[in-house]
Amino acid sequence: MKIITTIEELRSQLRGQLRTAFVATMGNLHDGHLSLMKLAQKHGDPVVASIFVNRIQFGPNEDFDQYPRTFRADVEKLEKEGVYVLFAPTEKDMYPEPQEFRVQPPENLGDILEGRFRPGFFNGVTTVVLKLLSCVSPKVAIFGKKDYQQLMIVRNMCRQFALPTEIIAAETFRAEDGLALSSRNAYLSPAERGGAPFLYRTLQHVADQVRDGYPDIFKLEKHAMDKLSKQGWLPDYVSIRKRINLQPPTAGDIAENTPLVVLAAARLGTTRLIDNLEI
Ligand code: PAF
Repeated sequence: MKIITTIEELRSQLRGQLRTAFVATMGNLHDGHLSLMKLAQKHGDPVVASIFVNRIQFGPNEDFDQYPRTFRADVEKLEKEGVYVLFAPTEKDMYPEPQEFRVQPPENLGDILEGRFRPGFFNGVTTVVLKLLSCVSPKVAIFGKKDYQQLMIVRNMCRQFALPTEIIAAETFRAEDGLALSSRNAYLSPAERGGAPFLYRTLQHVADQVRDGYPDIFKLEKHAMDKLSKQGWLPDYVSIRKRINLQPPTAGDIAENTPLVVLAAARLGTTRLIDNLEI
């Protein structure tokens, strides 16, 4: 595997490649990331991965400094997956001057759910993703459904800017007890890790009730938040949305079986976890 740090070298290494499959990460790779690499192998060649902890998507009180950085172990894992190029720029390589031009996602998608609790988050994500796509020029890029809103925003961005990259969704990779894998799981104490699958179980319960035809989605959301609180979580939201645009469904949407997704974010101790489940 070639490890490349500068945009110039990356461009010259990938020149002429027409079927590149790309996976963007912030490192601290787990089996969820590796499942994205495996899906990338199926959709293109060569596979290019990036590791870059993107400061501009972190809020001032978020975990940029603590974010787990495990570069050596990450390199070994990517080598085993047959990744051809790892792009691992420093902040100076990626942002040699202050990144004043930014992508501004539309409010109806970027300022709801995660965007409401993490102002500026999707501006930072889409800005770095656009820049990475411009450097790698992939035919396909793989994004996980674990970050459901991010996937949808990136996909819409690529469509509206007519980027020549197809965005492919990968299923969420879960531990045996149901917890969605995430780098932030590393912050959980053993006791918290034991309780963490409760978030997924709560989503499953909500999804079952919607499928059973329970009509009052606001009640379902509130009940789920109350249950999380009773178990010691601090929920930001549990929200049933339409898959197509992440807007709340109307009674008519529910009656017509419009495809839905339930999304949640909640804090367990100091760790903020997110998860979702398609209904
Ligand atoms: O999902 C992530 O790890 C990040 O948001 C991404 C897409 C790599 C952009 O920094």
